[in-house]
Order: sequence, then C-alpha cells, then structure tokens
Amino acid sequence: SKAKVFVSRDDFPAEGMNLLKERCDLEIWPLKKGLLSRDELVKQIKVKDAFYIALGDKIDKELLKSAGKNFKVISTMSVGLDHIDVAAAKEAKIRIGYTPDVLTEATAELTIGLLIATSRRLFEANKALRCGDWKSWSPLWMCGPGLEGSTIGIFGFGRIGQSVAKKLLAFRVSRILYCGRKKKEGNEIGAIHTDFDCLLKESDFVIVNCSLTPETKCVFNKDKFSLMKPTSIFVNTARGGVVDQEALLEALQNKVIAGAGLDCMNPEPIPTDHPLTKLDNCVLLPHIGSATFGSRNAMGVLAAQNILAALDDREMPAEIKV
Ligand code: GLV
Ligand code: GLV
Repeated sequence: SKAKVFVSRDDFPAEGMNLLKERCDLEIWPLKKGLLSRDELVKQIKVKDAFYIALGDKIDKELLKSAGKNFKVISTMSVGLDHIDVAAAKEAKIRIGYTPDVLTEATAELTIGLLIATSRRLFEANKALRCGDWKSWSPLWMCGPGLEGSTIGIFGFGRIGQSVAKKLLAFRVSRILYCGRKKKEGNEIGAIHTDFDCLLKESDFVIVNCSLTPETKCVFNKDKFSLMKPTSIFVNTARGGVVDQEALLEALQNKVIAGAGLDCMNPEPIPTDHPLTKLDNCVLLPHIGSATFGSRNAMGVLAAQNILAALDDREMPAEIKV
C-alpha cells in the first residue's frame, strides 16, 4: 500500500506536492478550516508515515511521543529547525529533512534589501511622498548613511551570512567582520573573525544570520544594543528569538541605535498595533526572506524529495544529523 503523508497546509507549491502524489496518499490540511492545531498533529502522527510541514508547525517532544510505529520522517519546508525538537526526534528514530542551499541567495538578497531600505530610509521616504511631505528637493532631506565605506558585522557566518558578505563586496563596504561558531579558515571574502562585543562596537550595520538555538536565544539584549554605535543599524533575517525584542524596541525609541530592519520578529505575525510598527526607524517585513518563486518552489521540491528518500530508507538529499 502507498505511504501515508500528512501535509500541514494546502498552499504548498504544486511541483513538490505532485512529486509526493505520484507515490503517496496525501492528506492535506485545508486552511479554510483555520490554521492547523496541535491536536490535529497529535491525531495525524499516530496514523501517518510522514509529515510535510512548515515553520509554523511546532513539533515538540510530547507530540513525538504520540508517533505511531510507522511514522518515519518529518520534512520541513524551511532551513530553520527551531520549531522542531530535533534531539527528541532523533531519540524516537524519526528522521528530519529540511531545505538548505536552495534559499541561501534569496535570503541573502533580501538581507541586502533591508540594509538599503533602512540605511536609505526607503519606506519612510515613500510614506513622506504619499503624505504630501515632499515640498521640494532638499539637500539633507531623507539622508542616511549608505553602505559604501561602512563596516559590516555579520553574526552567524553560515551559508546565508557568507552569501550576504559576498554580495556586499559589490557595494564597496570597507570591512566585513563576523562572528560565528567556527572561524572560517581562508575565507575568500576577506571577512575578519572577531568576538561578539567587538563586532557590536565596530560595525555600522549589524546583521543576524545565525540559526536559533539555546546558545543564540536572546543574545541581542539591552547590554549588547548599548555597545552598538548610536548611528548603527540592526538587520535580522534569521529568527526573532535571537533578539530580546523589548530591548530592541527601547534601543530604537531611545536612539541607542539608529534603525532596524526585521524580516522576523516575535510573535509572527506581529500585532499590527505593536509599538515596533509605529517607529519610522524600523522596517518590518512579514518573513519573506526566501520568497522568490524559484526558491520557494525548490524548497517545496526538496522537501518532497526528502520524504520520498526517507520512505525508501535511502539517503535523504538534505537530512539534519545531530
Ligand atoms: C525561513 O525562515 C526558513 O527557515 O526557511
Ligand atoms: C542557513 O542556510 C545558513 O547556513 O545560514
């Protein structure tokens, strides 16, 4: 009989879904019933062979305890894994697939977008134009620091962080600093490894590109923001959980730092009346880092290939090994 796969929403890209449909029986959660509940996941994990999920679907230890004996694999259409208790899955001998590489360039590209949007005040300027505040061309109106000649600090120097650094070379930045778990030997980008505090003190732009783990949870706190330059800009395209958001809000309100560009925050979606949404020096995007047609489609396909490989007990194209 065909493998039974539960799919957590009905708007995944078609190409990946079609790959699965050829070989599996799919039960697809219809979003018209609302977002999937934990109870539904508990019900499904008992009777299915695999889950095809996204980053809004939390897979915790308790849930994994309900897994039926046929349940083999969780495939998430994301590179981030902070919504999954990976250690508990491993203990339960459940394999986990994710989608690295295919979203690296798109996410790095959006990071550059946020650097420009914040430093050149794109949204603020657009809003001013629409409100009729554009009275005449004015020499210092809407000026910002720009990227040329700046010092960039990248926190988390994996695939995405390194891709951001490479793209930034074309903008003629003067230095790229990074900190991460490992010093990258002979990196051809010429980025300089520093400690966290030094990166904060020296950088004109601080960019977060790490994954969210117990080690990186809330590492950007009040003390750390206070080390940054008052002219500096903070950009996060990783996970909101890396930041103490109250501390960031205060730092922006009190001009401890000059601005922020966030593609991720806490919670998501952030309430539309949240104080961060009121600030002109804060650009907020609804978690669209990987949102190019090409990347999202490739993520969907890779997530499907991961399931098919695991169902055959083959090597998965992208499996997380702990
Ligand atoms: C997006 O945030 C992802 O993890 O793919
Ligand atoms: C994620 O893909 C990273 O390594 O930055």
